Amino acid sequence: MSLEFPKGFYWGTATAAYQVEGAWNEDGKGPSIWDTYAHTPGKIKNGDTGDVADDHYHRYKDDVALMKSIGANAYRFSIAWPRIFPQGTGTPNPKGLDFYDRLVDELAAADIAPFPTLYHWDLPQALQDKGGWQSRDTVKAFADYAGFMAEKLSDRVRHFFTINEFRSFVDMGHHGHEVAIAGGTMTISLAPGLKLAPREWNQVRLHAVLGHGMAVQAIRAKGKKGTKVGPAEVIECAVPMIETPEHIKAAETATRERNAPFLTVMLEGKYTDAYLKEAGADAPKFTADDLKIISSPMDFVGINVYRPMVYVVASDQAPGWREIPFASAHPKMSSSWHTLGPEAMYWAPKLVQSLWKAKEIFITENGCATSDVVADDGTVYDTDRVMFLRSYLTELQRAVADGVPVKGYFQWSTMDNLEWTQGFGNRYGLVYVDFKTQKRTPKLSAAWFREAAAHNAVV
Ligand code: NOJ
Repeated sequence: MSLEFPKGFYWGTATAAYQVEGAWNEDGKGPSIWDTYAHTPGKIKNGDTGDVADDHYHRYKDDVALMKSIGANAYRFSIAWPRIFPQGTGTPNPKGLDFYDRLVDELAAADIAPFPTLYHWDLPQALQDKGGWQSRDTVKAFADYAGFMAEKLSDRVRHFFTINEFRSFVDMGHHGHEVAIAGGTMTISLAPGLKLAPREWNQVRLHAVLGHGMAVQAIRAKGKKGTKVGPAEVIECAVPMIETPEHIKAAETATRERNAPFLTVMLEGKYTDAYLKEAGADAPKFTADDLKIISSPMDFVGINVYRPMVYVVASDQAPGWREIPFASAHPKMSSSWHTLGPEAMYWAPKLVQSLWKAKEIFITENGCATSDVVADDGTVYDTDRVMFLRSYLTELQRAVADGVPVKGYFQWSTMDNLEWTQGFGNRYGLVYVDFKTQKRTPKLSAAWFREAAAHNAVV
């Protein structure tokens, strides 16, 4: 039986500005919080930085040709806010805008649909200096920038993602986020590397979703009619350990609750009782109007899916589910947090549909880091990545076959790049990059991806 996807399915690959562009201080770009963080000794493994990264800023034409050659018909990239507004607000920088103009044109010429993300964590440092996401002024500045980009690009861009992984940049950047992994937990930090008290931290969470909502409204006001917009959130997907109705119900309830500060409030327009109760006096401050803005109707829900965040079973005790810890030998990919669990790729979109009746869903990221090496014959035999992609896409196809409205899939990442604080060591690409020479070599997984896209099916 062939595991096909619907006609018109988007087979994309994804990157983010800071991770690939380089040219950190060229053509009038202002510094971002990631420039500052990476230039602070000890923050990034081996002292790596995004100063040059993949040099995509200068090599984007070759990179678009590469995407074409691996069969992608969509590209998710992010726009570096400080290239457009070096100070975060004020006068736009024409050279920064020109880069994305040229990129979008190059994609159009290659028949690759552009899917820009407006915020993939590189806040202009000038705004951080004034309080960053702790300040409502940043929220407003983000919406202005989003509207500006929609005005400039929506003649050629049909889909915009507002913010990438709310949970990651808010929690890991403002508190240090603890994740469950095989055999225990680990804490991950990201720029700007703050350690806020719960009250302030919860307020940043609110500002992030408010920024999303205000951006949705700005894009509707300034973009061409028919422009579509939605978030790209790393969903906290609870996976039922056993697929029977009571455990599935438990997973659904747990997923709604675990996403309370982000997806749930964006899609329901209210915080769950449990979230507010648990936060108590530290709950964020908001008005009824804020909630309306936060839940501005969106056209699609974008979700990044890498792993089951937690396995659950039903329970007679409140809150109706029980977490099952990962076994210490549960298989993992190279990133230390990356527990393998292809079934998350079925349950994440499935639960987004059952909980929130999303009209359209995009898998905005999925992929894995492996320890790739170039073999003597010049090939990268990443059998582990092929196994990973095949198993996750088989589960995605199961969701689609069940009627879940998934419209596209973006593999993370087009090419190896700067994996934030892990530096260049964690290679996520379909294309291998030699960071000394910038030579690109498509891996075995790129050949797999090309066949899957060409057949519009798992191969
Ligand atoms: C999520 C982030 O959006 C992306 O920037 C990162 O590189 C991948 N996951 C892999 O960790």
